[in-house]
Order: sequence, then structure tokens, then C-alpha cells
Amino acid sequence: MDLTTHYLGLVLKSPLIASSSPLNREIGNIRLLEDHGAAAVVLPSIFEEQIEQEVAEIERFTSVGVDSFAEALSYFPPAAAHHAGPSRYLETIRQARDAVDIPVIASLNGTTNTGWTQYSRVIEEAGADAIELNIFFIPADPLLSGRDVEQRYLEVLQAVKQAVNIPVAMKLNPYFSSIANFVCELDRAGADGFVLFNRFYQPDIDLATLRLQRDLDLSTPAEIRLPLLWIGLLAGQIHGSLAATTGVETVDEVIKYLLVGADAVMTTSALLRHGVGHIKTLADGLAEWLDAREVSSVVDIRGRMCQRRISDPTAFERANYIQIIQGWKS
Ligand SMILES: Cc1cc2nc3c(=O)[nH]c(=O)nc-3n(C[C@H](O)[C@H](O)[C@H](O)COP(=O)(O)O)c2cc1C
Repeated sequence: MDLTTHYLGLVLKSPLIASSSPLNREIGNIRLLEDHGAAAVVLPSIFEEQIEQEVAEIERFTSVGVDSFAEALSYFPPAAAHHAGPSRYLETIRQARDAVDIPVIASLNGTTNTGWTQYSRVIEEAGADAIELNIFFIPADPLLSGRDVEQRYLEVLQAVKQAVNIPVAMKLNPYFSSIANFVCELDRAGADGFVLFNRFYQPDIDLATLRLQRDLDLSTPAEIRLPLLWIGLLAGQIHGSLAATTGVETVDEVIKYLLVGADAVMTTSALLRHGVGHIKTLADGLAEWLDAREVSSVVDIRGRMCQRRISDPTAFERANYIQIIQGWKS
């Protein structure tokens, strides 16, 4: 059975990638993921604010003030720079690179195209095979237009692309007025791939304490539909690769994502729920599913149900919505 796929110009032994999460900070877990069939791992994100924090601390030692950066410093506990900061992050990349043969993808998380983007160069020097760029930006300013927001994404991408030679994937959220158009623009600007979609973690309210609650729900398979729709619409229309993230619990979700055209399929919640060995369940399940249908490779099913290849392309658009609503039976 040939599970090989191409993602960001890298050859992967299967489409299954362990997406960015704290699990992948531990070298032991990264080794286990490789042993259980993960084709690549994405490290947890290093944040623009952490990078700036380390720079500020170095400057403090050399007597330059950091008061202007006080707010950003408060996002992280004081010891963060030591335990999880940029220097430690580079060490994790080096150790992971030495420990496994599968690609190690670093995750850069920030929102501006300022000096911190140059950190991508040292990420490359440390041995990362690719960078996943996660621009988690909430456009809270009512004066900021949708175009301004897109321009910000483009500028961060361009700054990172100029700094490195390794491939750069954009991990995007779905909240753009025209996702297809914007993805094509990022594609033309040099993005090597897209990870669809970033989950936004919104706050809740604890009514007992009247405080904002910051908790995180792991995903469920019901959440695959949004990425499924957009990967199905974009497949075959861009040069860059497409990776699916969100909602992969069983092999069914992996197969659905491949059918609509994903080059790679990522999972985190399922690994946090069931342990890193779950990646083997997904890989074995994929091979069995293909085998049962006498399909010899992933390539043979990938994109078979994307919009461009199905007999009724309107199924991905408004007609589908109307049929779903009108077809409801209580
Ligand atoms: C505990 C936890 C930590 C995460 N940390 C990161 C991170 O540092 N950077 C990032 O881009 N995504 C992060 N993610 C998002 C995951 O990579 C993934 O995109 C998301 O959980 C959806 O996939 P899933 O449904 O398989 O969990 C995190 C998710 C979880 C649950």
C-alpha cells in the first residue's frame, strides 16, 4: 500500500501529521509519533511576544529600557523565556531533528511584519524542514478594513519568505470575506501551503465569579465540515499544498479530507484524548480502507470528490444550502 504524499514540497510517507500542540514539545513524544506512523510533526508555536520578550530581556541587561513592552511581557509567566522561550525553542528543533527522520515543522505565531520575523532565519538554521505561520489576529479595531487585515497577513508572509529558503505554510482562520480569493493571493505571494483552519478560542463567562473564562474544548468530528468545504473548493486551484486541520478523530475524517483534496491531514485533539499511539490507528485504518476497495495508493483517492471533479459542483455552493434547509424533516 502506497500512502506517500507530497506536502510543501516534502515527500511524506503518509498524509498523517501531528499538528502543533504541547505534545510535540517533548522529544520522547516526537519519537513515539514517528514510531507509530506520523509522517511529520509540527512543534507548538513560538510567539512573536516571546521573541520580543527575549530581545527585551537581553536589552535590559545591556541597560536599554523595556517599559514600552510591559503589556506584551505580561502575556507570559516570568520564567517563560527560560523554559519555553526562543532559545529553548531552537534547542527543541535541533533535538527533534537529531531524534527523528520525519520532517519537523516549526510554528511561528505572530501578527506584525516587524523584526521578530527574522527569527524564522534561525529556525531554518536550527534544522526545521518547514515553517507553519499562524497569524492569530483579531481585528478588533472598527477602523480596520478587511483589506487592511489581508494586507497584514501578506506582509508577514512576505517578511518570513524573504528570510528563509525552507517552505512556509499559512495556517489560516476561516473569517475572511472571500477565502478563495485571499488564499489565491497568498498562493501568488509565495505561500507553499495552507493549513485549514485554525480554531479560534473565544472566551466564555463564568457566571459564579463574573470573570472571563479561558478554557479550551477539544474538537469533535462535526467540525470537519467547514475545512472540508473550503479544501474541496480550493483543491486544484492553487499551486501550494493543502493540509486539513480540525475534527480528525477517526480514519473516516482522514479519508473525507483526502477525498476533497487535502495533501496532508493533521490531528491534535484525538492524540490528546487517546495518546500518541492513536496515529497508528489512523494510519492502519487508512491502509485497510484503501485495501478493502482495491485502491493501491492515496494518490488514487486524493481530490476525487473536490468541487472540480464531482458531477454536481453546486453541491459545494448555495444549492446545497437550500436543499439542506428544505430537506429538513422533524
Ligand atoms: C492544547 C492545544 C494546544 C495547541 N497549540 C497550538 C499552537 O501552539 N499553535 C498552533 O498553531 N496550533 C495549536 N493548536 C491547534 C492545533 O494544532 C489544531 O490546529 C487544532 O486543535 C485543530 O485540530 P484538532 O481538531 O485535530 O484538534 C493547539 C491545540 C490544542 C488542543
